[in-house]
Amino acid sequence: MARFIMSGGEELKGEISISGAKNAALPIMAATLLSEGDCIIENVPGLKDVRTMSFILRTIGARVEEGKNTLRIIPPQSLHYEVPYELVKTMRASVLVLGPLISRLKKARVSLPGGCAIGVRPINLHLKGLMKLGASIRIKEGYVEAQTSGLKGARIYLDTQSVGATENLIMAATLASGTTYIENAAKEPEIVDLANFLNRMGAKIKNAGSDIIEITGVPNLKGANYTVIPDRIEAGTFMIGCAITGGEVTLRNVRPDHLEAIITKLQEMGVEILSSGEVIHVKGNKELQAVEVKTMPHPGFPTDLQPQIMSLASVCKGTSVITEDIFENRFIHAGELQRMGADIEIKGNTAFVRGVPGLNGASVMASDIRAGAALVIAGLIARPETRISRIYHIDRGYEEIEKKLQILGAKIKRIQ
Ligand code: UD1
Repeated sequence: MARFIMSGGEELKGEISISGAKNAALPIMAATLLSEGDCIIENVPGLKDVRTMSFILRTIGARVEEGKNTLRIIPPQSLHYEVPYELVKTMRASVLVLGPLISRLKKARVSLPGGCAIGVRPINLHLKGLMKLGASIRIKEGYVEAQTSGLKGARIYLDTQSVGATENLIMAATLASGTTYIENAAKEPEIVDLANFLNRMGAKIKNAGSDIIEITGVPNLKGANYTVIPDRIEAGTFMIGCAITGGEVTLRNVRPDHLEAIITKLQEMGVEILSSGEVIHVKGNKELQAVEVKTMPHPGFPTDLQPQIMSLASVCKGTSVITEDIFENRFIHAGELQRMGADIEIKGNTAFVRGVPGLNGASVMASDIRAGAALVIAGLIARPETRISRIYHIDRGYEEIEKKLQILGAKIKRIQ
């Protein structure tokens, strides 16, 4: 298995371009199943999760032609309605094909995703919403079996602002008869991106990005060309990487309006950040201050940057208090950071991070995408050497992370 070997201590300096957003590309790819024409999707990150979704679309019957950061997806002549466990277990977002399949085929059989390192992660809200739209659902042998005589618009209230449930229900509702309202909907930029893509295909979706999304069903959707938004989590990860090394970095292809929560926190810590258009300039500072961070649905601080900011907090002046309010088990990285010399105490869903002067290299293990990114950030300053194993998790969410870091001057190499 591949590993990263890092020698910390270099300031990150220079300029890189941020890739397209994984969490926008995946639902957009699933949404192409609703189309009757070819779709061309651009700014798609070259990632393992994207390849998994391509494989799922092919399993369902679509043709997927892959170019450099571009996908051409040709709709299936006839769709298969089953997505097996072997695919879903490697990527939970596979469950996003459930909404499009039930909508187009009136039936679907998709494996239940199960838990993962960061929590139990049920899909009850996806299923409750689909039932409200008129699907009958049963769980059999670990699979969701859904069928309908035709979906009908409904008013759906989500008990929790779930990103995946909002996306699945938007997709299911686009071809339903009548109007659907999703209340307490998730407001993440990736949801707005999905709605913009579907509207480009001829859907009628209003108010994506607000609490109540309105979807008026249409009889069919046509093919469309679309460019995926930049990845705010990748951008945030590199901003934190720059901050921890006291470097100076320019990030291109970013949407500063999607990054307000992380920009505000880093500024509070003492990092200088300037943005203009699609560019962000980050300048670190050797004396960063502790902060309080609480993860929340968008526009709050994203849970997907919580592990990375914990790495940064571990070398800031004072005690940072980091509360994880989205996932129940998202502190696995804390144990690995402690092995690198961080002083972290966990009480329930809160981590008290007492800043130490520096981190020591160690052999550590990535347990999920963002926990892996947190270890890479720690490895940027840890001396003499950090070895990170299970980096396949990192590859699921970061396109060529080590090459981008090398461009910025980091000492990181991948060994097989
Ligand atoms: C998406 C992102 C993931 C991010 C997360 C939260 C993708 C592919 N993944 O995951 O990177 O960390 O949003 O921003 O976009 N929940 C339920 N029942 C449900 C669904 C969710 O209780 O049916 C709970 C979850 O357990 C969790 C919370 O709701 O505690 C938020 O989860 P959700 O927004 O659904 O996350 P994902 O869509 O899986």
